[in-house]
Amino acid sequence: MNIRNSIVVITGASSGIGAVTARELARQGATVVLAARREDQLRTLAAEIEQLGGKTLVVPTDVTRLDDIDHLIQTTIDTYGRIDVLINNAGIGAGKTAATSSDDDMQQVITVNLLGPIRAVRAVVPHMRQQGGGLIINIGSVAGEVGTTSLYSATKFGLRGLSDSLRRELRPYKINVVLIAPGFVSTPLTRGIKVPMPKADVVAHAIAAAIQRPRRKIIVPWYYAPLAYLAKALPWLTDWLVSRNQIQQMLRREKQS
Ligand SMILES: NC(=O)c1ccc[n+]([C@@H]2O[C@H](COP(=O)([O-])OP(=O)(O)OC[C@H]3O[C@@H](n4cnc5c(N)ncnc54)[C@H](OP(=O)(O)O)[C@@H]3O)[C@@H](O)[C@H]2O)c1
Repeated sequence: MNIRNSIVVITGASSGIGAVTARELARQGATVVLAARREDQLRTLAAEIEQLGGKTLVVPTDVTRLDDIDHLIQTTIDTYGRIDVLINNAGIGAGKTAATSSDDDMQQVITVNLLGPIRAVRAVVPHMRQQGGGLIINIGSVAGEVGTTSLYSATKFGLRGLSDSLRRELRPYKINVVLIAPGFVSTPLTRGIKVPMPKADVVAHAIAAAIQRPRRKIIVPWYYAPLAYLAKALPWLTDWLVSRNQIQQMLRREKQS
């Protein structure tokens, strides 16, 4: 699909990967529909993009609210008449494990990371069918390839299952589904994590490439792909490495407190 003149809806556009992707796609000629809760951030980003000649529409959206998602899709259709690409990017980390999270935390993580994208798909598919096709890009994670942090991984594994099944279900309608699975990249989400990581541009470029030539799945940065493969081929080694790392983190936290 040509990025130029396409209509692209991006959830979680107020920060990190979503904001960088919006800038990149607008630079390449897409009209970007910016969705997230923080309207100020969205307006600042929209002004920046428009100053450079780009086109934007700001739709404040909380993806945990069904009405907000329906409103986002309907407002875009009312304004432009179509949606070429939906990028389900909004996501939050889970500070605690499944065994230690409160019920409210669990519901928030699952609703933002998994139920939100499912509802957005349901809202957009009738329009994409009517217009003869489209593209859905889900932002998963390497944590959806390799179980690392239980609650977060559960949602990202779910998003991978969703992407694979949707791709098969929506094929007859010429709606393509791509899963982008980032490893660590530098955004507010990973602040405080002390491993070397590239900027979010690496994900934005993968998303732009996926719009031009859709693929089943893209793991970025590239060096996480062999790691994800190895983790599946040698699950016992992964069990040992991940739990060793988690025990070290726990001990470090206990020492600090
Ligand atoms: N950074 C990484 O290393 C990494 C690695 C793997 C996967 N990912 C995935 O990449 C995606 C983007 O993450 P990021 O690193 O760019 O994090 P980020 O900078 O914290 O951005 C998260 C975005 O999600 C939005 N969001 C959170 N809750 C929302 C809600 N209820 N409704 C609407 N929007 C909501 C936030 O906007 P508001 O707060 O304004 O609503 C923000 O724009 C996530 O799905 C994340 O799981 C990131």
